Amino acid sequence: MKSSEIREKFLKFFESKGHTIVRSSPLVPGNDPTMLLTNSGMVQFKDVFLGLDTRPYSRATTVQRCVRAGGKHNDLENVGYTARHHTFFEMLGNFSFGDYFKRDAIQYCWELLTKVYMLPAEKLTVTVYFEDDEAYDIWANEIGVPKERIIRIGDNKGARYASDNFWQMADTGPCGPCTEVFYDHGADIWGGPPGSPEEDGDRFIEIWNLVFMQFNRDEQGVLTPLPKPSIDTGMGMERLAAVLQHVHSNYEIDLFQALIKAAARETGALDLANNSLKVIADHIRAASFLIVDGIIPSSEGHGYVLRRIIRRALRHGHKLGQTKPFFHKLVLDLDIEMGEAYPELREAKARVAQVLKAEEERFGETLENGMKILEAQLAKDAKNLDGATAFTLYDTYGFPLDLTADICRERGVTLDEEGFAAAMEQQKRTARAAGKFKMAAKVEYAGEKTKFVGYESLAHNTHVLALYSEGVSVQELKAGQEGIVVLDTTPFYAESGGQVGDQGVIGNGVNVFEVEDTLKIQADVFGHHGLLREGSLKVGDTVDAQVDTVKRARTIRNHSATHLMHKALREVLGSHVQQKGSLVDPDKTRFDFSHGAPLTLDEIAKVEMIVNREILENHPTQAQHMSFDDAVKHGAMALFGEKYGDTVRVLDIGSSKELCGGVHVTRTGDIGLFKIVSEGGVAAGIRRVEAVTGEGALALVQSINRKLQEAAGALKTSPDELPSRIAQVQDQVKMLEKEVAALKSKLAAGQGDELVTKAVDVNGIKVLAATMEGADVTALRETMDKLKDKLGTAAIVLASVLEGKVSLIAGVTKDATGKVKAGELVNFVAQQVGGKGGGRPDMAQAGGTDPSSLPQALAGVAGWVGERA
Ligand code: ALA
Repeated sequence: MKSSEIREKFLKFFESKGHTIVRSSPLVPGNDPTMLLTNSGMVQFKDVFLGLDTRPYSRATTVQRCVRAGGKHNDLENVGYTARHHTFFEMLGNFSFGDYFKRDAIQYCWELLTKVYMLPAEKLTVTVYFEDDEAYDIWANEIGVPKERIIRIGDNKGARYASDNFWQMADTGPCGPCTEVFYDHGADIWGGPPGSPEEDGDRFIEIWNLVFMQFNRDEQGVLTPLPKPSIDTGMGMERLAAVLQHVHSNYEIDLFQALIKAAARETGALDLANNSLKVIADHIRAASFLIVDGIIPSSEGHGYVLRRIIRRALRHGHKLGQTKPFFHKLVLDLDIEMGEAYPELREAKARVAQVLKAEEERFGETLENGMKILEAQLAKDAKNLDGATAFTLYDTYGFPLDLTADICRERGVTLDEEGFAAAMEQQKRTARAAGKFKMAAKVEYAGEKTKFVGYESLAHNTHVLALYSEGVSVQELKAGQEGIVVLDTTPFYAESGGQVGDQGVIGNGVNVFEVEDTLKIQADVFGHHGLLREGSLKVGDTVDAQVDTVKRARTIRNHSATHLMHKALREVLGSHVQQKGSLVDPDKTRFDFSHGAPLTLDEIAKVEMIVNREILENHPTQAQHMSFDDAVKHGAMALFGEKYGDTVRVLDIGSSKELCGGVHVTRTGDIGLFKIVSEGGVAAGIRRVEAVTGEGALALVQSINRKLQEAAGALKTSPDELPSRIAQVQDQVKMLEKEVAALKSKLAAGQGDELVTKAVDVNGIKVLAATMEGADVTALRETMDKLKDKLGTAAIVLASVLEGKVSLIAGVTKDATGKVKAGELVNFVAQQVGGKGGGRPDMAQAGGTDPSSLPQALAGVAGWVGERA
């Protein structure tokens, strides 16, 4: 039974039992800080189990893409070493949200396995949590599994509820006891039943886990009952496929065999059983799907998980002898195997290949060099790898620690992980010390925090808490001095979240301090940087702080437009678009985001249209403070890798909801007009868009219009007719170029006639060496042919100089090639003008870089022929 059929039968079966088929969610869980990557089918339903969310159905079934390469469930290290571990896998699951419980879950499971997939009952063994008499009883008395094949598993991991038969999604979250079904692959495979000392072998393989969701575990480890007992099951699609395809290893199933063959094709490996091919086949799935879901390789968070997986695959390719980029080519093979079931993969495959290729190119060279360092160290000590070398590999050569560990494991080398951690810690300390020094060089401050009133007002009467000149605390600033002013309350926004700091004036009629920029000098302390134009400013002075309202208004228009644009980009390009950076100032918004291809003119137009429509609808902006969880429930978009406090500020502008501390327009209509200025790439898989609003957008449109008018004027037409007029002019240019070429060749022919007279006789051979003004190579060649016809027995060299470069052509008539070879002749001249060439005995070509030596070189030709004729 093929993988595709297995998926389909599963979903259909549960659909017939009243379950709603739900699509796989992305690999990045929506705003769940407890979980880096989706590790099982229940992740998208977490809040439903917790009673925080409701769905229109109480039964669901999914085929969920999962990654276990970090966090509580991590299988990365096992990939390639066992028959059944993967970083990426597909989980078949059925779920009950307070609907059915243990009895139905077990009955459905048994019916599907034995009646639909037709597994022989005697091959199945089950486990239950040791206290779960209810589940035991259902298996024994209702299903009829013989007692010797129902195994009770206790708390075998050192704490209450720490058991193979107690499942939890992460350190916190929904959890409960479970019952698992194992398939016996037969006595010829090593391994024992669950709970036995040989349980880690590959004979008894767990295929299905039915979790009886009953509790929520909090940070203290306390378990509270869920609102309603529920069901969460997960069956590894690849494991089931192995059973149904009568093979012992997941890597032998149809889907993996195709990928392994593709990996062999790209690496040149001949032995299809090589473990490295399995690793590559596994990793192309994980890496590709992570990219599909918007992740790109980086040095932290999701991006680092992806990078580790890719680099591990590349190292295995390298081990197979492939030193060139190869991994990205497997995306096409993956698409053939899985694109049908996952349209999002099919749609993104070009982008995925591009991101992988960039990472391959980035790591290629350091991999090679890192391996040399590693080999050199292992040549010194073949049994141990010290932490310092592992750290150098990590820090300088980009080897993730697990990659180094993988190599060590292969070779039976002990890796000093503690030494690695110590080297890492040392580097962090050094970096911290450097950072502290930098802070201190700025300013030291130990007073009150700044109260920010700039959301509501642009001017405020306040007083000076501290002053700095050249980084040192002072009591007074005098006219002409630059410095930093700290106020107890300020309407000035300090740079953060991509929005630049405000400019403006601080003063009291007599004193004028011009604020150039506002920057945080500590988390909640704002420093106003600038110049005291007039008067003097003392600590304790009462002053008016006045923000430059024009600049502020321009900045916030750009900021609000950024939110609308972010939303629109996701709508137009897809939900893989994630913010990667932004800069908002009075002139523009600059927004970087993940996306693999340049935006088309149509896409740009669509984004502009959506944003401008929201502007015209003139929605009021709303900012609310709430808990992070409430914000997520509210549907607010949080950014990957950002740290948020307990309370967050949620900003609703038009249809966009984002967490943001920045300042915004009161209504979308305040933005005026939104226009994208440019679009380009900044790194692999990251695009940058710049856009303008308000007067900035008007200025842009006017300037485009002016240029258009000028261009139309120059071509004596109207802007409307400009494109067709340009096409016309281009046609004309092409025609003229053709005419010029024809004329040139005529001209050259004319020169040819004249040249005939210049030939000299050298022992019966007509020798001609001449320069043709302005001739290109074609003209030289055409003239050469004519000269040969006219001169009879001849040896000819023609030269021309174009843009400082010499072109040479030598021709010898057939009857003279016995004595003079065109190739040698052309080289005789070429060598003297700084070049070389070659060709047939009757015709040869060369180039040169030194035109000044040409006349002399040509003058020597007759003598050179004379020596041979
Ligand atoms: N969530 C359960 C598992 O992953 C079914 O095993």
